[in-house]
Amino acid sequence: MKVLITGGAGFIGSHIADGLIEKGHKVRIFDILHPQVHGEKRRIPDYLNPKAEFILGDVCDYNALKKAVAGMDAIYHEAAAVGVGQSMYQVREYTETNVLGTANLLHILANEKHRVRKLIVASSMSIYGEGKYECQRCGIIHPALRREKDLQARRWEMRCPVCRRNAKPVPTDEEKPLRPTSVYAVTKRDQEELCLSVGIAYKIPTVALRYFNVYGPRQALSNPYTGVCAIFSSRILNGKPPVIWEDGEQKRDFVHVRDIAQANLLALEKQEADYQVFNVGTGEGVSIGTVAKKIAERLGMPFKAEYPRKFRAGDIRHCFADISKIKRMLGYSPSVFFDKGVDILIEWAQEQKCEDKMEQAMKELRSKGLAS
Ligand SMILES: NC(=O)c1ccc[n+]([C@@H]2O[C@H](COP(=O)([O-])OP(=O)(O)OC[C@H]3O[C@@H](n4cnc5c(N)ncnc54)[C@H](O)[C@@H]3O)[C@@H](O)[C@H]2O)c1
Ligand SMILES: [Zn+2]
Repeated sequence: MKVLITGGAGFIGSHIADGLIEKGHKVRIFDILHPQVHGEKRRIPDYLNPKAEFILGDVCDYNALKKAVAGMDAIYHEAAAVGVGQSMYQVREYTETNVLGTANLLHILANEKHRVRKLIVASSMSIYGEGKYECQRCGIIHPALRREKDLQARRWEMRCPVCRRNAKPVPTDEEKPLRPTSVYAVTKRDQEELCLSVGIAYKIPTVALRYFNVYGPRQALSNPYTGVCAIFSSRILNGKPPVIWEDGEQKRDFVHVRDIAQANLLALEKQEADYQVFNVGTGEGVSIGTVAKKIAERLGMPFKAEYPRKFRAGDIRHCFADISKIKRMLGYSPSVFFDKGVDILIEWAQEQKCEDKMEQAMKELRSKGLAS
């Protein structure tokens, strides 16, 4: 197949490209080489597969994107602005790239001649907002964000909105109602819903993959707005303690980029995937404190995390994936769990030059009143 990957020069897209090329597909990448990800010089990254065709372009540029879509059999739509905190003040930029960019793509599929017969869109666990919980007395609950009052009092755990008991996090499945809590998350939900609705209407088999917290080689280490593993690695490599919000006990599902690539290839190959949404994670929750500790350990640095017991607006407490749907329907099976994945990450990170821009990013959040 001839496959277009928007955002294909990025972390995830480049791994999808490698997987596709290995299977004999022809890959075309369409990417703006955003300076926040690729540096001010906006060079094509060295890691990019030389067998992929590269087109420099913006998903918001209709004509450029139209040319890129021409002749393609399948599209992976990965291009996006990806910082949750940053999206809260770069509201226009995030909405433009993520929503208008997706609208452009769909407008092309609806109005121009093309032969696309599969569209796979990168969605995100962020669209759930808080994960799923169980209250001892009330059963399964889908709570909204924690109350400001509780956070101020450093009561971090989720409480049942009805009886106020502490609730236990359980794996989040695809049926959980969507409650995005950031501009980024709202745009990711829009991307997913726009793609599925247009895909269904025009009978273009469409799949939305809800990635959980992706990590691994090629994640932009100097981008302080995204990817906690990359941020921690770059802090520690620069001799600074990782900054951990709350008490570090909040859990996420860290999925290795190799498994994200696996899920994307399955979504292309399997008809069962058509018009479906799938979680892509490991099914296991790992605490942020554990992540920091393991990264420091592997880098051979003494672990000295800063726990300022502060918090960020819109942060959720726990969310990790229920992956039974993608296992059952597509035969997906996570191959890299955190202990091994962190080794692969560190081996790569140690060879990289990375600037730590975290202080600046935190200053921005504080100046907007988005962090305590
Ligand atoms: N990394 C994660 O943990 C994670 C989790 C959930 C979802 N996602 C989604 O996966 C996708 C890929 O994310 P990533 O982690 O590889 O990020 P990334 O920043 O490494 O890659 C995104 C790529 O998109 C390009 N891009 C940005 N704006 C563009 C535009 N206007 N036109 C064309 N290209 C543009 C960037 O230059 C970059 O190469 C995104 O849609 C993101 O929302 C990522
Ligand atoms: Zn209750």
